[in-house]
Amino acid sequence: MAAIERDFKRSVIYQVYVKSFCDSDGDGVGDLPGVTSKLDYLAALGVDYVWLTPFYPSPQRDGGYDVSDYRAVDPLFGTMGDFDELVAQAHRRGIGVMLDMVLCHTSDRHAWFQRALAGEERFRRFYILRDGRGSSGPGDPGEPPTNWQCAFGGPAWEWEPRLGKWYLHMHDVSQPDLDWTNPEVRRACADVVRFWKERGVDGFRFDVVSLISKPEVFEDTPDGSCRRLVADGPHVHEYLQELVAQAGIDGMLTVGEMAATTLGNCIRYTRPEDHELSMTFSFHHLKVDYADGDKWALKEPDIAELRRLFRDWQEGMQAGGGWNALFWDNHDQPRAVTRFGGREGAGERGSSWDRVGKMLAVLSFTMQGTPYIYQGDELGMANAGYASIDAYADVESVNAYRLLVEGGASADEALRIVGERSRDNGRTPMQWTGGHAAGFTDGKPWLAVPATVGKVNAEAEDGVEGSMLEFYRDLVRLRHDLPVLAEGRVRFLDAGAGAPKVIAFERTLGDARLVSVCSFDARACTVDGGDLALGDGYRRLAGNYDDEPLRADDGSLALRPQEAVVYLQ
Ligand code: GLC
Repeated sequence: MAAIERDFKRSVIYQVYVKSFCDSDGDGVGDLPGVTSKLDYLAALGVDYVWLTPFYPSPQRDGGYDVSDYRAVDPLFGTMGDFDELVAQAHRRGIGVMLDMVLCHTSDRHAWFQRALAGEERFRRFYILRDGRGSSGPGDPGEPPTNWQCAFGGPAWEWEPRLGKWYLHMHDVSQPDLDWTNPEVRRACADVVRFWKERGVDGFRFDVVSLISKPEVFEDTPDGSCRRLVADGPHVHEYLQELVAQAGIDGMLTVGEMAATTLGNCIRYTRPEDHELSMTFSFHHLKVDYADGDKWALKEPDIAELRRLFRDWQEGMQAGGGWNALFWDNHDQPRAVTRFGGREGAGERGSSWDRVGKMLAVLSFTMQGTPYIYQGDELGMANAGYASIDAYADVESVNAYRLLVEGGASADEALRIVGERSRDNGRTPMQWTGGHAAGFTDGKPWLAVPATVGKVNAEAEDGVEGSMLEFYRDLVRLRHDLPVLAEGRVRFLDAGAGAPKVIAFERTLGDARLVSVCSFDARACTVDGGDLALGDGYRRLAGNYDDEPLRADDGSLALRPQEAVVYLQ
């Protein structure tokens, strides 16, 4: 079994995007020895597990999520010896290591796909190959089998003359989807997981694993979107149970990335009696600022919708015996601190940046589930918003820019939208210092450092009272110290008509009751006292202002802009 086994309900997990965390050899790209060199920093933050994004051999068309060999380390990131050393050093500090398993698709450079291209029938059956519509016979592609669009813009099917078929790619054209109906594929994937387990890792994150079981019938959708159609497919639970059993990872810490999922399925993915996963990432709460559900159409975040989603998922997962992964940021998201209103005063106490960064942290550390910190969240790292499209590297961002301009947007408008929504916002180099390349590399970083680095960096925040970093350290400590935070029941509270942008809930365990109140409002507002029921004997446990908000005789709370406050009975 794993060297580090912690109760996942009491754990805090830290995500490292290896490419952007720390570069040890000056080539401008983060690497495994770089991560190892920062383990003391992670230990001082107090996290229990570190999740490493893919460092396997890859052509890097999709930031390493296009894997060409599942059982090796890309020389760009180091060697297998470096990996073993990282694991050993993490374990010495009591930190578990989780790896990213990208098993829904491979890179087109993977040996399996290459052998399929070379005509080996066994490997052709690893992928999802179809004839074209209206094809007159072999050699004539006809039209794509369905109108499905891939996640990064453009069709989800590619005609490949060497296969004589169209192959399905839900993501980039270089990422052919694996055919999980083939038992040999499932076994091969389980072998990959077992390989890393035997190498000493302590947990796994499964990339877009909600998409592994494709529908029985492939049909057009009204608008060509296919994620919802494919997500949570007919055999997905069965495949996950089989994977867990075959890889021998039951009881290890696991999390599934559940694109386009539903609450009912996430309950099934995570309730212990089904032996699938420990917890799931869902993404509905990160779409509340998509106009008409379109990522590339801007609107202000809809906080009423956010509250409804959190309430449904928090109370729903609890009722069904499931477990949530709690997060705002990852390598696919723009920075939440920017997104939810912390646009001014980066690095300054009392600014909207300071208030929003801390409020978001309070919210995710006080809800029910396991909190994830994405690298740089704890520093308040903000969106990059580069001045030129040439500064962007991400395949999705570059495609989106092109499609926006083709669709009639001006270059400025397209750049502004990409600046808000690009995944590169979350992939900028970790800000260790205010010096050269943020202390991330001695060389030229593969992606430019945002302008806020001067005041937002680990060196400037370490040990400084009231800094974002110290605030996060306190929250991690609270998570470990307070059973009510880890295990308490959750119930959402009515903040009243005077507080439309406030999210409030209680956590209860035995006699302990904790009340968390988080305001997204840039103005002051008044929260009804009724449901909060803060009688005598409640003390402020945490908050993003130096003192308590005013509490009136009727129990109502006068919240200041973007205030977060937590009370404990
Ligand atoms: C997941 C990853 C993302 C990647 C996609 C395809 O969503 O987090 O970075 O592009 O899967 O693998």
